[in-house]
Order: sequence, then C-alpha cells, then structure tokens
Amino acid sequence: MPDTARSADRRPGSSILVTGATGNLGREVVHRLQAHGAHVRSLTRHQPAPRAGVEPVVGDVADPAVVREALVGTDAVFLIWPLLDSSSAHDLVAELNAAAPRVVYLSTTAIDDEAARQSDPIVQVHMDMEALLHGAGLRPVVLRSDTLASNTRGWAPQLRAGDMVSGLDIARTAVVDERDVADAAVAVLLAQHDRLDQGLHLLTGPEVLSRADQVAHLGAALRRPLRFQALPGDLARSRMLADGRPEPLVEALIAASVRRPESNRITDHVEGLTGRPAGTFAKWAVDHAAEFS
Ligand SMILES: NC(=O)c1ccc[n+]([C@@H]2O[C@H](COP(=O)([O-])OP(=O)(O)OC[C@H]3O[C@@H](n4cnc5c(N)ncnc54)[C@H](OP(=O)(O)O)[C@@H]3O)[C@@H](O)[C@H]2O)c1
Repeated sequence: MPDTARSADRRPGSSILVTGATGNLGREVVHRLQAHGAHVRSLTRHQPAPRAGVEPVVGDVADPAVVREALVGTDAVFLIWPLLDSSSAHDLVAELNAAAPRVVYLSTTAIDDEAARQSDPIVQVHMDMEALLHGAGLRPVVLRSDTLASNTRGWAPQLRAGDMVSGLDIARTAVVDERDVADAAVAVLLAQHDRLDQGLHLLTGPEVLSRADQVAHLGAALRRPLRFQALPGDLARSRMLADGRPEPLVEALIAASVRRPESNRITDHVEGLTGRPAGTFAKWAVDHAAEFS
C-alpha cells in the first residue's frame, strides 16, 4: 500500500463522492475506498445494489440539483464525465466551486497537448473538461488513463458464442488494468493535503497492444484459439446500432477508430502513485477469464 493511501487526512464524518460508481472503473474505486474505511457517496443514474458504507445518490451528473445534493458533506470527488459533450458541465463546475472539494478527474492519455483541437471527439470532451476544471480554479488532480483493460468485457457475448471477436480496430495503446487506475485514484483521494501532487499523471499499462494482441492474450487465458477480425466502419456502425448503442456514441467510436493516432507511450506513473508497477493485460485476462466462458 502506498504511503499516501495510509495517511488519510480527512475531516471527521466527511464523504468521498465517486461518480460512475457502478462502472468498470468506479466500482473498483468504491471497493478500495471502503477497504480503507472511507465513507463513500456514489452518483449514478440507476439505483445501485446496496453496499454497506456507500450512500447512493441517484441522478445525472449533468443535473446541478443532483450534484449539489451529492456534494453535501463531501470533501473529495472522483469525477468522470461520461457524456459526449462538455457544454452541460458548466453547471457541474459551478456546483464544485461552491462546495470546494478536492477534485480528481479521470481523463485520457489520448489528449495531444500540442493540438488546439483534438481530432477525436471523445478526446476533445476530456480536453474541454480539464480546461473547465482548471479554469474554474478547482486545481484538479488529473489522471489521464490509457485504454482500460475492462473495455474487453464488451467482447464477452461473442466469446461465449465462438472463437472470433469482430469489431472496430483501433490504434494500439498501452492498455491499463482498471484496478491499477483505481489504486492510483484512491492513493490521490486519500493523500494528505500537504503531500498532494497537483500534477498530471499519465496512467498506462506496461506494453502497447493491438486489439488482436488482446484477443490473443484472452485466448491464452481461456486456452482457446481466439481470433480478432477488424470490421469496416460501415459494418461496425450497423452492428453497434443494432445492439442498441446510441447513435452519437457509435459515431464517436467510429471517429476514434479512424482518427486516434497510435500511442507508444508507456509511463511509470501507476508505480509512482501506487508503489508497484502496472499489471499486464495477460494477468488481467487470467484474472477475468471466467467472465468470457
Ligand atoms: N474506458 C476507457 O478506456 C477509458 C479511458 C480513459 C478515460 N475513460 C473515462 O472513464 C470513464 C469510466 O469508464 P468505465 O469504463 O468505468 O465506464 P462504464 O463502465 O461505462 O461506467 C459508466 C458509469 O457512469 C455512470 N453514468 C453514465 N452516464 C451517467 C450520467 N449521465 N450521470 C451519472 N452517471 C452516469 C454509469 O452508471 P448509470 O448508467 O447507472 O448512470 C456507470 O456507473 C468513462 O466515462 C471515460 O470518461 C475511459
């Protein structure tokens, strides 16, 4: 356990708000905060399953009344912005400013700091969110995460039906285990104020992987000869729409697959925050193999 996570410096009775608390990443953050004995408030649109020590607030993160309620008695926020547009975030930022908690924002390593505009619309939203939070004087700790290993859970239905994963191909990235990102987030959320590093943290896994590489690792974990088949954009679009994904999300994913450049960057920032190196996707695949069979 990193020293930062041992030395919590919190107001008695205060809560940590976790947005996206039932998601792949958020639920890992919640588990860890609970294990540290922190009082957690969660914010999601759907009522979560009850958990001891977790107080749910149900509503939209873009609804200022919901955010105001969630922030009462809260002195730190793990913030995700799951929307495809940052225009409704001004209200959120106003509520954060009024409540003045410590803000840990989950962004993306895909941001190109040299570019005024990002070619990928999802990445642009994260860039806008970072600028909004900084511009409001909230002094957020920004955790830019690479592609989460947990995204591959979306392949589970295909892998239960056969040995082929077909989908959009995207540029290779340093896929990171969401448990490492959660450990890093919790280290920052529980850090003593006087030791808090306000800097930017780039959280990557230890190796750069394509989708075919990830499928191969899953195959090794499952002991099955799995293959990845890249689909052309039009076919991927029609399949995602048929699966019920919202059209703006589908278009954003298609744009990301075409425009997001390959990233060969690997950092040691997970280790810097957690005290141990980032785990491999191969290990993630072994640990989660049961979800795919
Ligand atoms: N996945 C990646 O590779 C990656 C990489 C970099 C950054 N990120 C960022 O990390 C975030 C979390 O990723 P994830 O994979 O954990 O997502 P996820 O599994 O899809 O979970 C999303 C969470 O957000 C909640 N949510 C969604 N829309 C909401 C809204 N309008 N208001 C309130 N809560 C809402 C969901 O619960 P309800 O549905 O009940 O609301 C759920 O708890 C992403 O949104 C993205 O901003 C992801």
